Amino acid sequence: MEKEIIDRAMAYVKEKFENEYSGHDWFHTLRVFRTATRIAEKEGADVETVQLAALMHDVDDRKLSPETHADKANARSFLTANNVDESKIDEICRIISEVSFVGRDSVAPTTPEGKCVQDADRLDAIGAIGIARAFAYGGNHNRLMYHPDIKPNLNMSKEEYVNSNSTTVNHFYEKLFKLTDMMNTDTAKSIAREREEYMKTFIAEFMDEWEGRR
Ligand code: ADP
Ligand code: NI
Repeated sequence: MEKEIIDRAMAYVKEKFENEYSGHDWFHTLRVFRTATRIAEKEGADVETVQLAALMHDVDDRKLSPETHADKANARSFLTANNVDESKIDEICRIISEVSFVGRDSVAPTTPEGKCVQDADRLDAIGAIGIARAFAYGGNHNRLMYHPDIKPNLNMSKEEYVNSNSTTVNHFYEKLFKLTDMMNTDTAKSIAREREEYMKTFIAEFMDEWEGRR
């Protein structure tokens, strides 16, 4: 694989997500690409496979492109058009299909490359960026920030998670605070610990202000 294909993949994703404001904009993919590269280098995974999978990881997303989600048609056609081997395409599509958080039905990737991409995608859901993305997503989907009577559901199936209509603060308990323990690589786990502390401070402050304690 040559470097050119990475540049072309970047251009492809950038154009595809041009009008996307739900937390999956091009810059999300760019951050996942950079973080995944960093993790792959530290963990000794195949960097090019990781980079291509990171760049393609959201182009067939369940929410953004439901019609191509099952067969990963966008990723497949881009990779085929750029002469990537059939077996490499299958490997990349498998990484993409295993990446998502879907409650207790989430899977741990089978390959070192898949672990790097999943960890990078999940790191972008936590910390300062993660907080911002969660509230951006909530606003985009008409969700309340918080409601004292709506309790988090800590053990959702894929079905329940996908159809949930909870608050954004609940999302921290339903997904974001679970991610540190779910990291596959030690490199990501140590970054995740710091980001989780930051989110805990944020939620504590949010509740203090909400309850008038501050
Ligand atoms: P990913 O990029 O990891 O596949 P998702 O598609 O699950 O992420 O979600 C995109 C962003 O929106 C993530 O930062 C995620 O935490 C956030 N998000 C997803 N579902 C919710 C929700 N119900 N409430 C608030 N934020 C959410
Ligand atoms: Ni993503």
